[in-house]
Amino acid sequence: METANVSADNIVAYLNAQEHKSMLRFLTCGSVDDGKSTLIGRLLYDTKLIFEDQLVALESDSRKHGTAGELIDFALLVDGLEAEREQGITIDVAYRFFATEKRKFIVADTPGHEEYTRNMATGASTADLAIVLVDSRQGVLRQTRRHSFIASLLGIRHVVLAVNKIDLVEYDQTVFDRIVADYMAFAKDLGFETVAPIPMSARFGDNITARSQNMPWYAGPALLEHLETVPIDSDGLEKPFRFPVQYVNRPNLNFRGFAGQVASGRIAVGDEVMVAKSRQSSRVKEIVTRDGNLDQAVEGQPVTIVLEDQIEVSRGNILVKPEDGPHVADQLQAHVIWFDADPMIPGRSYILRTETDSVNCTVTTLKHEIDVNTFARESVKSLPMNGVGVCNLSLQAPIAFDTYRQNRTTGNFVIIDRYSNATLGAGMIDFPLRRAENVHWQAMEVNKTARAALKHQKPAVLWFTGLSGSGKSTIANNLEKLLHANGKHTYMLDGDNVRLGLNRDLGFTPEDRVENIRRVAEVAKLMADAGLIVLVSFISPFRSERRLARDMMDEGEFIEIFVDTPIEECAKRDPKGLYLKAKAGQIANFTGISSPYERPEDPDIHLRTVGHDPQELAVRIADFLQKRDEG
Ligand code: ADX
Repeated sequence: METANVSADNIVAYLNAQEHKSMLRFLTCGSVDDGKSTLIGRLLYDTKLIFEDQLVALESDSRKHGTAGELIDFALLVDGLEAEREQGITIDVAYRFFATEKRKFIVADTPGHEEYTRNMATGASTADLAIVLVDSRQGVLRQTRRHSFIASLLGIRHVVLAVNKIDLVEYDQTVFDRIVADYMAFAKDLGFETVAPIPMSARFGDNITARSQNMPWYAGPALLEHLETVPIDSDGLEKPFRFPVQYVNRPNLNFRGFAGQVASGRIAVGDEVMVAKSRQSSRVKEIVTRDGNLDQAVEGQPVTIVLEDQIEVSRGNILVKPEDGPHVADQLQAHVIWFDADPMIPGRSYILRTETDSVNCTVTTLKHEIDVNTFARESVKSLPMNGVGVCNLSLQAPIAFDTYRQNRTTGNFVIIDRYSNATLGAGMIDFPLRRAENVHWQAMEVNKTARAALKHQKPAVLWFTGLSGSGKSTIANNLEKLLHANGKHTYMLDGDNVRLGLNRDLGFTPEDRVENIRRVAEVAKLMADAGLIVLVSFISPFRSERRLARDMMDEGEFIEIFVDTPIEECAKRDPKGLYLKAKAGQIANFTGISSPYERPEDPDIHLRTVGHDPQELAVRIADFLQKRDEG
């Protein structure tokens, strides 16, 4: 047995040293109490991986806190390592390494309970095999199905059904058989290549590294034996060459190399390569590594590639071979797993990040959610936490990618929050959508500048946001009169009015409000393009959509006006009698009462209305506009 305890950075070095053995990447999943930590602890212990000092600490810890009597509590071991990791807090998933005579192993140890789906999706995206743990006393649970489904979604092809704690049911074969039958009944639709059921007790070591004497009825291999022999696919070398450039290595003027790791396929000196998006090509002059130059490099190897010609290559480009490049598109269909407590909402703007690209995106259509128990497709308006859905995404700029089926590295992405930078979801690309391919922006000779010049004005989108009854429309109305009197060409888009026409199909759920604002922002953009000064008066309660609207307009064109009136004051004025009804429970999702209003953090104009009259406030906005136009 060999031992190692290395950080993620050293993975490659360690693996290079072990080059000639095959490698299996796996992860464990199951419900909280199924014994995941105990199993990993036991595997590491039995393969002598634990360092001596950790062992001593463990033995005394077990005596103090353990739940395993005189035995070593392996769960304490893994949990202890977890605590260590928490201090670093740089990665969600820790990778542990061990090796036997036959094979090297990487275990993605995915901590956490509530956030398990997220961690699993992170840890599983490169795994070959999943150990699905089931407690013999509990059998197949909802979590078992969920995790198995996610494993299949993430492209894992092999499963070990670890029927654990078999000692607690007297090593009873009928219990085992029933669980296996249950599992097989639903797993048959998940497309796994192998499913190996193994009865075991991680706590006592039955069928972990050696076959147990306690279950003469079981003729199959122990867990480790199976892990050593399960056939894993090494078709990565046969796949098209993909080299995501991590950085441009330019130590001096004489050297310019592109550093990264070969994501799939192979490359040799003299091969022609192309930058996926720009389609510029050159030939490989050298393949440089720390230990000297290579004639060729294959999947998994970190190298620096030097090209013969000076073509434009930067971080985030993918080098490929001209004959089998990836898709380049700005619309695609994907399976998405959602992690965040706030649901994914079509029309909302997020950041989509692949290995190489980071672009703004919106979900244009949420086709359906997949019920993880029945695999039925359900029509939904938004995707809740832990939901899995199929959707179309529209990106602000084209990206280069493969389908997830073709390549798990270049076919996956994460969805990031534009404000907090938090990871909200993970996606697997199904295919590019070609619908926008033959639609091109038509350049007109009479353009925005010409239209605006004729009107002697600079287009603007004056975006009024605030609670219902805050005075948005009244102030906007006063402002429009003022501008109009000064010869300006204006148009007013008012929430109530637009909802009676263009948006009459929309209500007040968060999903519908997002779509409401998305549409009105598009309309405002067209009107600004017509050269107009547009006044938009919508509650627009969410930061995210106000930001979306701002991003759609030209620099300096979008002016956010926060009409800041305390809700008590709005309720007192109650011009339409809506607060009265809302408080009586007669209106659902009422802003400020049963639906949130996210205050602007940094509005261009902040109007505190109490004690000021609408006309005076309108003059302030007109002054702001005038200053902008002069400046
Ligand atoms: S938004 O939130 O989607 O921006 P919008 O400005 O279009 O709202 O519409 C708000 C107007 O709809 C309010 O001024 C009010 O007259 C009316 N209304 C009806 N139901 C609601 C509700 N549940 N919440 C807020 N406004 C409502």
